[in-house]
Amino acid sequence: MPDSDGQPAWQRAALADTLESLRAAHLLRQRRTVAVVGAGPECLVAGAQLVNFSSNDYLGLAQHPRLREAFTEVARTHGVGSGGSHHITGHHAEHTRLEEVLAAYTHREAALLFSTGYMANLAISRVLVGPGARPGLSVPGTVVGDALNHASLIDSARLSGTTFGRYAHADATAAARLLAESTGPALLLTDGLFSMDGDLPPLRELAAVCAAREAWLAVDDAHGLGVLGATGRGVLEVAGLLGTPDAAPILMGTLGKAFGAFGAFIAGRRELVEVFRQRARTYIFTTALPPAVAAAARMGVTLALDEPERRQHLQALVDRFRYELTGLGLAGRLLPSTSPIQAIILGSAEAALAASAALQSRGLLVSAIRPPTVPAGSARLRITFSAAHTEAQLDRLLEALQAVLPSQLDTALPAGHAA
Ligand SMILES: Cc1ncc(COP(=O)(O)O)c(C=O)c1O
Repeated sequence: MPDSDGQPAWQRAALADTLESLRAAHLLRQRRTVAVVGAGPECLVAGAQLVNFSSNDYLGLAQHPRLREAFTEVARTHGVGSGGSHHITGHHAEHTRLEEVLAAYTHREAALLFSTGYMANLAISRVLVGPGARPGLSVPGTVVGDALNHASLIDSARLSGTTFGRYAHADATAAARLLAESTGPALLLTDGLFSMDGDLPPLRELAAVCAAREAWLAVDDAHGLGVLGATGRGVLEVAGLLGTPDAAPILMGTLGKAFGAFGAFIAGRRELVEVFRQRARTYIFTTALPPAVAAAARMGVTLALDEPERRQHLQALVDRFRYELTGLGLAGRLLPSTSPIQAIILGSAEAALAASAALQSRGLLVSAIRPPTVPAGSARLRITFSAAHTEAQLDRLLEALQAVLPSQLDTALPAGHAA
């Protein structure tokens, strides 16, 4: 029976049930409309000016005048849209230039642009170990992944037509066990810097495990590139694996976080990149990035290299935050991380939401992260630092946390989350 506005009753009921179950579990997501204020990390949300401690703009480049100039210059001469997919008419000289810069930056032979990191990740499992990955392959391939991998890596495995297993977070021995039991060609997927916990995987051990099994190792360094390592080249630099391209043969990076733009890439050996160019459905069947975005991203990579003081200031903020939080007696709720991603575990979704709302009323934008983004019982405040933050803004954050957190600490932490 249609309702008065003509919508069939079954459709209305199906949608209402879904939304109501999310509401009842405190999992209904609300998006905010954010307007950037000036060049710093401040923004306007519903008329209130907030210091943004939730963005992934780690180096403070998203508002940089030179990225804006690079973008507008190319938009003026080449227009806005790329006009097609890379294999048809969408590939422009700006894309090639950016790919060359990214290959050099990551110390890899070649790089291939994708429109988003999600799409780059989706390609990896299917291209390397999915059905048809190699001619005549009769056994289905295997993908193993860290239990805390980003959703796009999980989807990469799930949608690839392979057998998928998850190992305990950052546990190379558990990964080796899964791989030893696996059949067919194998691939191990791991975040480089875990996006919700801020910690790193044991990359050298994982590389050794993969080498022993002849399994591919793919590292998603969306959050580490530009930020971690002596020259900011990410987790491979931290692990001493920059100079050994076959130990971590697939590196995925994004351009919408530290580099201040948008898009993503895969870097590796020339033939690896060629295989993705030929076989990745999420590369072939989609519109190429706007060339102006590629130009802005190239400027972001250039500035990340040329202005190391951004990374140094960022690290100083993170170090002071952890030191002061320990002084406030809150270290037990802080996950071990020396990266710009700092998570304070509150447990329940309600507690995380209440703390986030209280911080917002004090002029601070700090996201509450809830299941299914993180495991049940580990809802948290996720604080991200940017080189654009000032010491005074950090002072405000520390004072607010001191005032707000004690009232939210009544829930017991789930096992495995006591610091
Ligand atoms: C670890 C990780 N990988 C991949 C992605 C997806 O990248 P993109 O936003 O470019 O789709 C994200 C988040 O955006 C991420 O946090």
